[in-house]
Amino acid sequence: MRLRDAKILQELAALGVEPQPGVALSTLTSLGIGGPTDLLRIIKHDSLPAILDLLEQHEIPHKFLGGGSNLLVGDGELPWVVLQLAKPDPDVILEGNLAHVDAAADLGRTVTFCAKHDLGGLEGLIGVPGTVGGALRMNAGAYGTQIGSYVEEVKVYRAVERKIEILRGDQISFEYRHTSFGPDDMMLAVTLKLPSKPYREIIQGIRICNEKRRASQPMGQKSAGCIFKNPPGASAGRMIDELGLKGLSVGDARVSDRHANFFVNAGRASARDMLTLISSVRDRVEKAYGVKLENEVVVWSA
Ligand code: EPU
Repeated sequence: MRLRDAKILQELAALGVEPQPGVALSTLTSLGIGGPTDLLRIIKHDSLPAILDLLEQHEIPHKFLGGGSNLLVGDGELPWVVLQLAKPDPDVILEGNLAHVDAAADLGRTVTFCAKHDLGGLEGLIGVPGTVGGALRMNAGAYGTQIGSYVEEVKVYRAVERKIEILRGDQISFEYRHTSFGPDDMMLAVTLKLPSKPYREIIQGIRICNEKRRASQPMGQKSAGCIFKNPPGASAGRMIDELGLKGLSVGDARVSDRHANFFVNAGRASARDMLTLISSVRDRVEKAYGVKLENEVVVWSA
């Protein structure tokens, strides 16, 4: 969707928005898939309520983009503008055991920055791509760690109340790849309370997680991490693997040979290819195991 009205563009600029016309989302997502639209980079995070009022007033549909690492975006011109928080400098401020982190901060860099200041706990999250806001939104986790366990406070734009609120960690429920945030709530910042640990010990933990990940997941290939959530007590990756589906392809969308719950874009896969592959694998698993796999990847299709 293109914003052509000069007055709206001017009003957005006055609210601290930097519009970037016609950006292909394939360049902003780890899957490398997604059509073009106007990207609105939000420099002044606190103007978010006013920005959203303006978009609504002009009936401009919009979506929020985090790090784009768990996202499958449709092909062709997209019917919404996309909002993304610009990263402030600095994006992490430490205060004793508390880390005040902007939602736009890169998760991996946050983990290593805290480690350098002898703050641990987040080792398992090393290698999870994306922003801290995105990780928080869906309670990202790996190797026994989930980000929700360390949340002291979250600054969030509440879509229903249409205002920015500060929520305490105990006011939010963090479950497996799910939180109690509303679908249109937007994470702005988080305060994490992290245990003190010597840097050397944290780095050791980070190394172990990196090795495990390298041994079992396709690194350096275009993917959105795991496509499906694990059903209770089972592993989606193992089920898909047991059915012999590694390497199954639709166009350039392909079930990874390394980890069957990772679907990779092996070249010029379209969203349509990827969606066809996802439903084909879901159907086969349902037929064989009687279990309907739920998407972990977020799908934005028109
Ligand atoms: N397995 C296979 N074949 C495969 C993949 C896995 O047999 O192709 C087996 C493994 O050998 C193991 C079991 O399935 O016995 C579980 O595999 P793994 O340890 O790789 O964990 P997972 O359940 O597949 C989860 C998360 C990952 C996270 C890892 C490590 C989900 C959906 N996935 O994967 O998170 O990195 O544990 O903690 O919860 C993500 O969320 O995007 C993601 C990749």
